[in-house]
Amino acid sequence: MDKTSSKPSLRLEKSPSNEPGVPFDDNFGRTMKYLRISLTDRCNFKCTYCRPEIEETKRHEDLLTFEEIERIVTIMATNGVRKVRLTGGEPLLRKGADHLVRMISDIKGIEDLAITTNAVMLSKYAVRLAAAGLDRLNISLDTLDPKRFSELTCGGSLKDALMGIDAAVEAGLKPIKLNTVLIKGFNDDELHSIIDYAASMGFTARFIEFMPMSNGLDWEKGYISVDDVLKMPEIASRVDTSAALNRQNTASVYLPLRSGTGEVGFITPMSSKFCNLCNRLRITADGRLRACLPADDKDADLKGALRAGASDDEILAIIRRVVALKPESGEYTFDSLGRKKSMVDIGG
Ligand code: GTP
Ligand code: 5AD
Ligand code: SF4
Repeated sequence: MDKTSSKPSLRLEKSPSNEPGVPFDDNFGRTMKYLRISLTDRCNFKCTYCRPEIEETKRHEDLLTFEEIERIVTIMATNGVRKVRLTGGEPLLRKGADHLVRMISDIKGIEDLAITTNAVMLSKYAVRLAAAGLDRLNISLDTLDPKRFSELTCGGSLKDALMGIDAAVEAGLKPIKLNTVLIKGFNDDELHSIIDYAASMGFTARFIEFMPMSNGLDWEKGYISVDDVLKMPEIASRVDTSAALNRQNTASVYLPLRSGTGEVGFITPMSSKFCNLCNRLRITADGRLRACLPADDKDADLKGALRAGASDDEILAIIRRVVALKPESGEYTFDSLGRKKSMVDIGG
């Protein structure tokens, strides 16, 4: 798609595959069923591995409105999208996020509606989110040490995050997964405590390989592969690495805990790509539909099209064109982003 042209192309493709109801199949045998929507690029933390190079955030009028999001999800649900995740930045910073949850959970066809959050605002919103129909939560938690937490997030409070998590549990929001980005020399000595905390709360801990995106924290120093983590004695003694990998979705693999009290998830975007199974589309906070996390040039300006008066058929045609742009496995690396993009620019 031409990112430089301000006018989106609204050319309607007259092909039978543009009929509503036809699944979003790409050119490599994958069907898109999962939409990740970033509600805002703002965040109440500034994690050193995530901090954007340009800290300027989008203006409110540049963000998709809830009605625009509802329209896109409705069109996608008609064509087989079943799972929606709200991301950010911190999605709960978007005023009325619970109303959007209600709007999306009412859309026919959406079977799984989740949020990825840093938990702090759950103290305020957990009850409302549960009432609005949120199915589940993933919570970013990289350390259980208050001092490290404050250092990593540039002033965030572990206590506030843990209080938010407790509020979510009390509100009955489950299942909950914890996302921990693996950072050598920072949290690799407390992975066992994170597994214990998750097990004690009935959560699943997931460890994510650090991706080289923004140039805040030194990736070369901080990267550690999941393979190396599994070789650590304190992890090898807890996690049954001989068990068959359980792939519940396309990004994570799960291994059982030897104690029989659950499993641990691993997300390996660096050491073992999972693109061949990718069923995801992404919408950035400013309304660009993106075919692939690291592929900066495989996207389209959905917001522009919506605001130029596109019909549902025209929106559908744009979505199909982006699906057709989806690259094959491993074609794009994070290096192609030039360490200039942060997760908040894309939505994770
Ligand atoms: P579940 O549906 O609960 O499995 O959640 P999820 O893993 O799809 O979503 P979540 O927001 O919790 O993602 C966890 C981490 O995985 C984030 O750091 C994401 O950036 C990363 N991740 C998710 N999808 C992809 C992907 O398609 N490619 C890459 N490279 N990373 C991804
Ligand atoms: N590498 C891996 N995970 C990252 N996240 C943000 N930046 C990175 C990175 N460079 C994670 C957050 C959160 C999710 C949305 O993305 O910690 O769990
Ligand atoms: Fe915010 Fe999550 Fe990025 Fe940290 S990793 S700055 S919590 S979006």
